[in-house]
Amino acid sequence: MSSAFSYPYLEKILIHETTILRRLDELAWEITRDFADRGDLTVIAVMHGSLFFVADLLRRVQLPLRIETLNVASYDGAASTGLIRFRQTELPDVRGRQVLVLDDILDSGQTLHAICSRLQAECAPAAIRTGVLLNKVRPRVVEVAADYVGFDIGDEFVVGYGLDYNGEYRNLPLIGSLRAEYIAA
Ligand code: IMP
Ligand code: MG
Repeated sequence: MSSAFSYPYLEKILIHETTILRRLDELAWEITRDFADRGDLTVIAVMHGSLFFVADLLRRVQLPLRIETLNVASYDGAASTGLIRFRQTELPDVRGRQVLVLDDILDSGQTLHAICSRLQAECAPAAIRTGVLLNKVRPRVVEVAADYVGFDIGDEFVVGYGLDYNGEYRNLPLIGSLRAEYIAA
């Protein structure tokens, strides 16, 4: 079905859609269990990378919750700039609420760190937890660990299932690495 042959720009497929969805069943069960008695929950989806992760995960979570989004950017092509830009002026109202921040991937750690620091400093949440579909196993620039992790991967640039290269490839149903000739030198 979804062989690399169907995706000529992919070097290899790392995680197939069925594997992702099976793992989301497990994560959703953990989140449902962990937040059941904790109070009002707001999930903050970090756009655009967490789009499919959040949509597929939250439909498996059996809890009342609110969904908010935060639009941030740090990557230029296949390299992190280290500069986290918040593209919206207003932060979600999460005063007194349990917050679960969901992002596509934990890489240098700067994005999750910047988001959690701002929410903590400016929004008075009851507590903040974090979840990522992918955790790149590499030294962090800022020390953060996600509370929920879908998959550990090596230190390589990946696309698909929400993750992009220059805005493209997000709609692939799977996670793969790009062939070198599709990455600008
Ligand atoms: P961090 O701030 O370095 O942890 O990077 C997190 C953000 O960089 C994520 O929200 C992604 O948008 C982006 N990113 C990091 N690694 C990759 C990758 O391999 N492919 C696509 N985007 C990535
Ligand atoms: Mg992102």
